[in-house]
Amino acid sequence: MERTFVMVKPDGVLRGLVGEILARFERRGLKLVAGKLMQVTRELAEAHYAEHREKPFFGDLVAFITSGPVFAFVLEGPNAIGVVREMMGKTNPKEAAPGTIRGDFALTIDKNVIHGSDSPESAAREIALWFGEEALLSYDRPVDAWL
Ligand code: PPS
Repeated sequence: MERTFVMVKPDGVLRGLVGEILARFERRGLKLVAGKLMQVTRELAEAHYAEHREKPFFGDLVAFITSGPVFAFVLEGPNAIGVVREMMGKTNPKEAAPGTIRGDFALTIDKNVIHGSDSPESAAREIALWFGEEALLSYDRPVDAWL
C-alpha cells in the first residue's frame, strides 16, 4: 500500500476542475485520506519546490503556486504514486497523452493543472510538509475488498 501527495494547482481550482480530477482518482479506486483547500505561503511553496531552487523557472513557479488557492490531498492505494503520475500525464502538457489529466485539461508547462509526488521519497517528504502523519485518516471502505 502506498500514499502519494497530490495538488490541484491554482489554474485547476479557478477553472473548477477539482471535482473532475478527484472523481477520476476515486473511480480508479484510490482512497482519499486527507484533503484541504488552501492559500499557499511563499515559505511553503519554496520548501515544496526546493529541489528546483536553481532552475530559471523557480521564481515563476513560486509566484504561480501562491497566486490563488490550491487543493492539496493525499491518496492511498496499491502503487498510488505511479498510478497518479500515469493518470496526470507528462509534465509538459504538449507531450501529455489524451485521456490523461494534463492531456485533457492543459496546454502549457507553466499552467499544468496538477502536481503529484514522483517517488516514495518525495511522497514521504511532501506528505510530511503539507499534512503530517497525524492528519491522515485511516478508514475501511466496502469497495476495498474488490480492488
Ligand atoms: S526539471 O528541470 O526537469 O527537473 O523540471 P520539471 O520536472 O520539468 O518541472 C519541475 C516542476 O516545475 C514546473 N515547471 C514550470 N513551472 C513554471 N514555468 C515553467 N517554465 C516551468 N517548467 C517546469 C513543472 O510543472 C514541475 O512542477 P510539478 O508541480 O512538480 O509538476
